[in-house]
Amino acid sequence: MNMNEIRESYQADLELVKDAKELAAFWTKYLSKTGSIQGLMAGIKNVPKEEKKAYGQMVNDIKTWAQDLYDAKKVEVEKAAMAARYEDETVDVTLPVKMRPAGNLHPLTSIRNEIIDVFAGMGFEIYEGPEIEDDDHNFTRLNVLKDHPSRDMQDTFWLTEDLLLRTHTSPGQIRVMDSKNPPIKVLVPGKVFRSDSDATHSPMFSQMEGLVVDKKITLCDLQGMLDQFVKALFSEEVKTRLRPSYFPFTEPSVEVDVSCFKCGGAGCSLCKGTGWIEVLGGGIVNNKVLENCNVDSNEYSGLAFGIGMERIAMLKYGINHMGKLFENDVEFLKQFKA
Ligand code: PHE
Repeated sequence: MNMNEIRESYQADLELVKDAKELAAFWTKYLSKTGSIQGLMAGIKNVPKEEKKAYGQMVNDIKTWAQDLYDAKKVEVEKAAMAARYEDETVDVTLPVKMRPAGNLHPLTSIRNEIIDVFAGMGFEIYEGPEIEDDDHNFTRLNVLKDHPSRDMQDTFWLTEDLLLRTHTSPGQIRVMDSKNPPIKVLVPGKVFRSDSDATHSPMFSQMEGLVVDKKITLCDLQGMLDQFVKALFSEEVKTRLRPSYFPFTEPSVEVDVSCFKCGGAGCSLCKGTGWIEVLGGGIVNNKVLENCNVDSNEYSGLAFGIGMERIAMLKYGINHMGKLFENDVEFLKQFKA
Protein backbone atom coordinates (compact mmCIF):
# COMPACT_ATOMS: atom_id res chain seq x y z
CA MET A 1 0.00 0.00 0.00
CA ASN A 2 1.38 3.37 -0.81
CA MET A 3 0.86 6.37 1.40
CA ASN A 4 -2.13 7.58 -0.54
CA GLU A 5 -3.87 4.27 -0.28
CA ILE A 6 -3.19 4.23 3.41
CA ARG A 7 -4.68 7.69 3.79
CA GLU A 8 -7.69 6.70 1.77
CA SER A 9 -8.46 3.55 3.75
CA TYR A 10 -7.79 5.41 7.03
CA GLN A 11 -10.26 8.11 6.11
CA ALA A 12 -12.88 5.66 4.81
CA ASP A 13 -12.61 3.56 7.97
CA LEU A 14 -12.83 6.60 10.22
CA GLU A 15 -15.90 7.71 8.35
CA LEU A 16 -17.69 4.52 9.44
CA VAL A 17 -16.98 5.01 13.15
CA LYS A 18 -20.22 5.83 15.00
CA ASP A 19 -19.51 5.45 18.69
CA ALA A 20 -16.87 5.24 21.40
CA LYS A 21 -16.57 1.48 21.08
CA GLU A 22 -15.90 1.60 17.33
CA LEU A 23 -13.53 4.49 17.87
CA ALA A 24 -11.51 2.39 20.31
CA ALA A 25 -11.31 -0.47 17.80
CA PHE A 26 -10.25 1.99 15.11
CA TRP A 27 -7.53 3.35 17.37
CA THR A 28 -6.19 -0.15 17.99
CA LYS A 29 -6.18 -0.90 14.26
CA TYR A 30 -4.29 2.25 13.20
CA LEU A 31 -2.81 4.25 16.03
CA SER A 32 -1.77 1.79 18.73
CA LYS A 33 1.82 0.56 18.96
CA THR A 34 0.89 -2.39 16.75
CA GLY A 35 -1.40 -0.34 14.51
CA SER A 36 -0.71 0.15 10.82
CA ILE A 37 0.20 3.86 10.98
CA GLN A 38 2.63 3.23 13.82
CA GLY A 39 3.96 0.29 11.79
CA LEU A 40 4.95 2.53 8.89
CA MET A 41 8.06 3.67 10.73
CA ALA A 42 9.27 0.07 10.88
CA GLY A 43 9.32 0.00 7.08
CA ILE A 44 12.15 2.52 7.08
CA LYS A 45 14.68 -0.27 7.25
CA ASN A 46 13.76 -1.34 3.71
CA VAL A 47 14.14 2.18 2.31
CA PRO A 48 17.40 3.09 0.49
CA LYS A 49 19.61 5.22 2.63
CA GLU A 50 19.29 8.41 0.61
CA GLU A 51 15.49 8.24 0.79
CA LYS A 52 15.30 7.54 4.52
CA LYS A 53 15.02 11.18 5.49
CA ALA A 54 12.17 11.90 3.08
CA TYR A 55 10.44 8.69 4.12
CA GLY A 56 10.72 9.60 7.81
CA GLN A 57 9.30 13.03 7.08
CA MET A 58 6.38 11.49 5.19
CA VAL A 59 5.60 9.06 7.98
CA ASN A 60 5.61 11.91 10.50
CA ASP A 61 3.27 13.94 8.28
CA ILE A 62 0.86 11.08 7.96
CA LYS A 63 0.99 10.46 11.72
CA THR A 64 0.12 14.07 12.50
CA TRP A 65 -2.58 14.07 9.86
CA ALA A 66 -4.02 10.79 11.21
CA GLN A 67 -3.95 12.01 14.82
CA ASP A 68 -5.72 15.27 13.89
CA LEU A 69 -8.48 13.42 12.06
CA TYR A 70 -8.79 11.01 14.95
CA ASP A 71 -9.05 13.86 17.52
CA ALA A 72 -11.74 15.60 15.51
CA LYS A 73 -13.69 12.34 15.23
CA LYS A 74 -13.37 11.79 18.95
CA VAL A 75 -14.95 15.16 19.70
CA GLU A 76 -17.73 14.38 17.24
CA VAL A 77 -18.42 10.95 18.81
CA GLU A 78 -18.49 12.42 22.32
CA LYS A 79 -20.88 15.15 21.24
CA ALA A 80 -23.16 12.62 19.60
CA ALA A 81 -23.11 10.47 22.74
CA MET A 82 -24.04 13.46 24.88
CA ALA A 83 -26.85 14.43 22.49
CA ALA A 84 -28.19 10.88 22.55
CA ARG A 85 -28.13 10.92 26.33
CA TYR A 86 -30.01 14.21 26.50
CA GLU A 87 -32.57 12.78 24.12
CA ASP A 88 -32.85 9.63 26.18
CA GLU A 89 -33.28 11.39 29.48
CA THR A 90 -35.71 14.01 28.34
CA VAL A 91 -38.81 14.14 30.54
CA ASP A 92 -42.06 15.19 29.00
CA VAL A 93 -43.51 17.31 31.77
CA THR A 94 -46.84 17.51 29.98
CA LEU A 95 -47.52 13.78 30.33
CA PRO A 96 -50.29 12.94 32.81
CA VAL A 97 -48.93 11.58 36.11
CA LYS A 98 -49.81 8.24 37.62
CA MET A 99 -52.03 8.99 40.62
CA ARG A 100 -50.93 7.42 43.88
CA PRO A 101 -53.57 7.37 46.58
CA ALA A 102 -52.41 9.25 49.69
CA GLY A 103 -53.07 7.71 53.07
CA ASN A 104 -54.45 9.51 56.09
CA LEU A 105 -54.05 9.40 59.83
CA HIS A 106 -56.16 7.00 61.84
CA PRO A 107 -58.89 8.97 63.66
CA LEU A 108 -57.42 7.94 67.01
CA THR A 109 -54.02 9.22 65.98
CA SER A 110 -55.58 12.53 64.94
CA ILE A 111 -57.41 12.83 68.25
CA ARG A 112 -54.24 11.99 70.17
CA ASN A 113 -52.29 14.60 68.19
CA GLU A 114 -54.99 17.21 68.72
CA ILE A 115 -55.13 16.60 72.47
CA ILE A 116 -51.34 16.75 72.74
CA ASP A 117 -51.35 19.97 70.70
CA VAL A 118 -53.79 21.70 73.03
CA PHE A 119 -51.99 20.70 76.22
CA ALA A 120 -48.51 21.21 74.79
CA GLY A 121 -49.67 24.80 74.24
CA MET A 122 -50.23 25.01 78.00
CA GLY A 123 -46.73 23.70 78.71
CA PHE A 124 -47.41 20.00 79.28
CA GLU A 125 -44.70 17.42 78.58
CA ILE A 126 -45.31 13.85 77.38
CA TYR A 127 -44.44 10.82 79.46
CA GLU A 128 -45.08 7.21 78.44
CA GLY A 129 -45.19 4.38 80.96
CA PRO A 130 -45.20 0.59 80.55
CA GLU A 131 -48.32 -1.33 79.50
CA ILE A 132 -47.44 -4.15 81.90
CA GLU A 133 -47.66 -2.72 85.38
CA ASP A 134 -47.49 -4.05 88.90
CA ASP A 135 -50.18 -3.89 91.54
CA ASP A 136 -48.30 -1.17 93.37
CA HIS A 137 -48.32 1.39 90.54
CA ASN A 138 -51.68 0.49 89.04
CA PHE A 139 -53.56 0.28 92.36
CA THR A 140 -51.94 0.46 95.76
CA ARG A 141 -49.98 3.71 95.51
CA LEU A 142 -52.96 5.27 93.76
CA ASN A 143 -54.81 4.61 96.99
CA VAL A 144 -56.76 1.68 95.59
CA LEU A 145 -56.02 -0.62 98.49
CA LYS A 146 -56.18 -4.40 98.44
CA ASP A 147 -59.73 -5.68 98.93
CA HIS A 148 -61.06 -2.18 98.44
CA PRO A 149 -64.34 -2.45 96.54
CA SER A 150 -63.17 0.16 94.03
CA ARG A 151 -60.84 -2.45 92.51
CA ASP A 152 -63.98 -3.97 91.06
CA MET A 153 -64.58 -0.78 89.06
CA GLN A 154 -61.88 -1.99 86.69
CA ASP A 155 -61.97 -5.53 85.34
CA THR A 156 -58.30 -6.33 85.41
CA PHE A 157 -56.37 -8.71 83.19
CA TRP A 158 -53.94 -10.24 85.65
CA LEU A 159 -50.72 -11.76 84.31
CA THR A 160 -49.33 -13.05 87.62
CA GLU A 161 -50.30 -12.43 91.21
CA ASP A 162 -48.54 -9.08 91.03
CA LEU A 163 -48.34 -8.14 87.34
CA LEU A 164 -51.22 -6.94 85.19
CA LEU A 165 -52.07 -5.09 82.00
CA ARG A 166 -52.55 -1.54 83.21
CA THR A 167 -56.23 -0.72 83.58
CA HIS A 168 -55.66 3.02 83.21
CA THR A 169 -52.86 5.50 82.52
CA SER A 170 -52.96 6.74 86.12
CA PRO A 171 -49.90 4.64 87.14
CA GLY A 172 -48.08 7.17 84.94
CA GLN A 173 -48.82 9.73 87.71
CA ILE A 174 -46.86 7.63 90.20
CA ARG A 175 -43.97 7.06 87.81
CA VAL A 176 -43.69 10.76 86.98
CA MET A 177 -43.79 11.86 90.64
CA ASP A 178 -41.17 9.21 91.44
CA SER A 179 -38.87 10.54 88.76
CA LYS A 180 -39.16 14.31 89.17
CA ASN A 181 -40.01 16.98 91.69
CA PRO A 182 -42.80 19.52 91.29
CA PRO A 183 -43.65 21.63 89.42
CA ILE A 184 -44.98 18.83 87.22
CA LYS A 185 -47.15 19.18 84.12
CA VAL A 186 -47.36 15.98 82.10
CA LEU A 187 -49.58 14.07 79.72
CA VAL A 188 -49.42 10.29 79.70
CA PRO A 189 -50.97 8.82 76.55
CA GLY A 190 -51.24 5.09 76.12
CA LYS A 191 -53.14 1.86 75.70
CA VAL A 192 -55.05 0.45 78.65
CA PHE A 193 -56.81 -2.88 79.13
CA ARG A 194 -60.00 -4.04 80.79
CA SER A 195 -62.06 -7.17 80.45
CA ASP A 196 -65.04 -5.43 78.94
CA SER A 197 -66.53 -5.47 75.46
CA ASP A 198 -69.63 -3.95 73.87
CA ALA A 199 -70.54 -1.10 71.50
CA THR A 200 -68.86 1.51 73.70
CA HIS A 201 -66.22 -0.64 75.42
CA SER A 202 -63.28 -2.61 74.12
CA PRO A 203 -60.78 -4.80 76.01
CA MET A 204 -58.06 -2.50 74.76
CA PHE A 205 -58.53 1.23 74.50
CA SER A 206 -56.50 4.40 74.91
CA GLN A 207 -56.38 7.04 77.57
CA MET A 208 -54.65 10.35 78.00
CA GLU A 209 -53.74 11.06 81.58
CA GLY A 210 -53.02 14.61 82.70
CA LEU A 211 -51.17 15.49 85.89
CA VAL A 212 -50.26 18.90 87.27
CA VAL A 213 -48.51 19.24 90.63
CA ASP A 214 -47.54 22.67 91.88
CA LYS A 215 -48.26 25.14 94.67
CA LYS A 216 -51.93 26.12 95.06
CA ILE A 217 -53.44 23.96 92.34
CA THR A 218 -57.23 23.90 92.63
CA LEU A 219 -60.30 22.55 90.85
CA CYS A 220 -60.56 25.93 89.09
CA ASP A 221 -57.29 25.17 87.33
CA LEU A 222 -58.71 21.83 86.25
CA GLN A 223 -61.89 23.36 84.90
CA GLY A 224 -59.98 26.18 83.18
CA MET A 225 -57.68 23.77 81.38
CA LEU A 226 -60.48 21.42 80.40
CA ASP A 227 -62.56 24.34 79.15
CA GLN A 228 -59.80 25.30 76.76
CA PHE A 229 -59.36 21.68 75.77
CA VAL A 230 -62.99 21.05 74.79
CA LYS A 231 -63.26 24.37 72.98
CA ALA A 232 -60.20 23.48 70.88
CA LEU A 233 -61.41 19.96 70.22
CA PHE A 234 -65.12 20.48 69.60
CA SER A 235 -66.05 24.15 69.20
CA GLU A 236 -65.78 27.57 70.83
CA GLU A 237 -69.41 27.37 72.02
CA VAL A 238 -68.92 24.22 74.06
CA LYS A 239 -69.00 24.59 77.86
CA THR A 240 -67.91 22.24 80.62
CA ARG A 241 -69.71 21.14 83.74
CA LEU A 242 -68.15 19.34 86.70
CA ARG A 243 -70.22 16.75 88.55
CA PRO A 244 -69.13 15.15 91.82
CA SER A 245 -67.84 11.64 91.39
CA TYR A 246 -65.54 9.16 93.05
CA PHE A 247 -62.03 7.92 92.31
CA PRO A 248 -59.76 6.66 95.09
CA PHE A 249 -56.81 8.69 93.75
CA THR A 250 -58.57 12.06 93.61
CA GLU A 251 -60.39 14.00 96.30
CA PRO A 252 -62.63 15.66 95.39
CA SER A 253 -63.32 13.73 92.19
CA VAL A 254 -65.36 14.94 89.26
CA GLU A 255 -66.91 13.71 86.03
CA VAL A 256 -66.61 16.32 83.35
CA ASP A 257 -69.48 16.89 80.93
CA VAL A 258 -69.48 19.10 77.85
CA SER A 259 -72.55 20.84 76.57
CA CYS A 260 -73.75 18.83 73.59
CA PHE A 261 -71.92 20.08 70.52
CA LYS A 262 -74.52 18.54 68.24
CA CYS A 263 -77.69 20.17 69.54
CA GLY A 264 -76.09 22.99 71.53
CA GLY A 265 -77.72 21.78 74.74
CA ALA A 266 -81.35 21.53 73.61
CA GLY A 267 -81.33 17.73 73.81
CA CYS A 268 -80.81 15.21 70.99
CA SER A 269 -79.99 11.56 70.42
CA LEU A 270 -76.25 12.09 70.96
CA CYS A 271 -76.73 13.58 74.44
CA LYS A 272 -79.76 11.36 75.10
CA GLY A 273 -81.93 14.41 75.59
CA THR A 274 -79.89 15.77 78.49
CA GLY A 275 -77.94 18.48 76.63
CA TRP A 276 -74.71 17.23 78.25
CA ILE A 277 -72.15 14.58 77.30
CA GLU A 278 -69.74 12.99 79.73
CA VAL A 279 -66.17 13.17 78.40
CA LEU A 280 -63.71 12.46 81.19
CA GLY A 281 -62.91 11.92 84.85
CA GLY A 282 -60.60 13.93 87.01
CA GLY A 283 -60.09 15.68 90.29
CA ILE A 284 -57.65 16.99 92.85
CA VAL A 285 -54.87 14.49 93.49
CA ASN A 286 -55.57 12.73 96.76
CA ASN A 287 -53.06 13.77 99.46
CA LYS A 288 -52.40 10.09 100.11
CA VAL A 289 -51.18 9.69 96.53
CA LEU A 290 -48.87 12.70 96.87
CA GLU A 291 -47.49 11.26 100.07
CA ASN A 292 -47.04 7.83 98.48
CA CYS A 293 -44.69 9.61 96.08
CA ASN A 294 -42.91 11.66 98.75
CA VAL A 295 -44.49 14.92 97.64
CA ASP A 296 -45.21 17.20 100.59
CA SER A 297 -48.96 17.69 100.53
CA ASN A 298 -48.70 20.76 102.78
CA GLU A 299 -46.67 22.53 100.17
CA TYR A 300 -48.05 21.10 96.96
CA SER A 301 -51.37 20.11 95.48
CA GLY A 302 -52.21 18.52 92.18
CA LEU A 303 -54.89 17.96 89.62
CA ALA A 304 -55.33 14.91 87.44
CA PHE A 305 -57.62 13.84 84.67
CA GLY A 306 -58.06 10.84 82.41
CA ILE A 307 -59.48 11.18 78.93
CA GLY A 308 -60.82 8.17 77.03
CA MET A 309 -59.56 8.82 73.53
CA GLU A 310 -61.88 6.41 71.70
CA ARG A 311 -64.84 8.04 73.37
CA ILE A 312 -63.70 11.46 72.20
CA ALA A 313 -63.14 10.12 68.66
CA MET A 314 -66.58 8.47 68.63
CA LEU A 315 -68.28 11.65 69.80
CA LYS A 316 -66.38 13.92 67.48
CA TYR A 317 -66.78 11.79 64.36
CA GLY A 318 -70.18 10.25 65.13
CA ILE A 319 -68.90 6.66 65.30
CA ASN A 320 -71.44 4.34 66.90
CA HIS A 321 -69.32 1.26 67.62
CA MET A 322 -65.91 1.35 69.30
CA GLY A 323 -64.82 -1.81 67.48
CA LYS A 324 -64.76 0.17 64.23
CA LEU A 325 -61.69 1.97 65.54
CA PHE A 326 -59.75 -1.29 65.75
CA GLU A 327 -60.92 -3.23 62.69
CA ASN A 328 -58.54 -1.48 60.29
CA ASP A 329 -61.23 -1.46 57.62
CA VAL A 330 -59.71 0.78 54.96
CA GLU A 331 -63.10 1.80 53.54
CA PHE A 332 -64.10 3.04 56.99
CA LEU A 333 -60.79 4.75 57.74
CA LYS A 334 -60.67 6.52 54.36
CA GLN A 335 -63.52 8.75 55.52
CA PHE A 336 -61.22 10.57 57.89
CA LYS A 337 -59.10 12.12 55.20
CA ALA A 338 -58.47 15.69 56.27
N1 PHE B 1 -58.03 6.56 85.86
C1 PHE B 1 -59.41 6.91 85.81
C2 PHE B 1 -60.13 5.91 84.94
O1 PHE B 1 -59.53 5.22 84.18
C3 PHE B 1 -59.63 8.30 85.23
C4 PHE B 1 -59.04 9.36 86.12
C5 PHE B 1 -57.78 9.81 85.89
C6 PHE B 1 -59.77 9.90 87.13
C7 PHE B 1 -57.23 10.79 86.68
C8 PHE B 1 -59.26 10.89 87.92
C9 PHE B 1 -57.99 11.32 87.70
O2 PHE B 1 -61.32 5.80 85.01
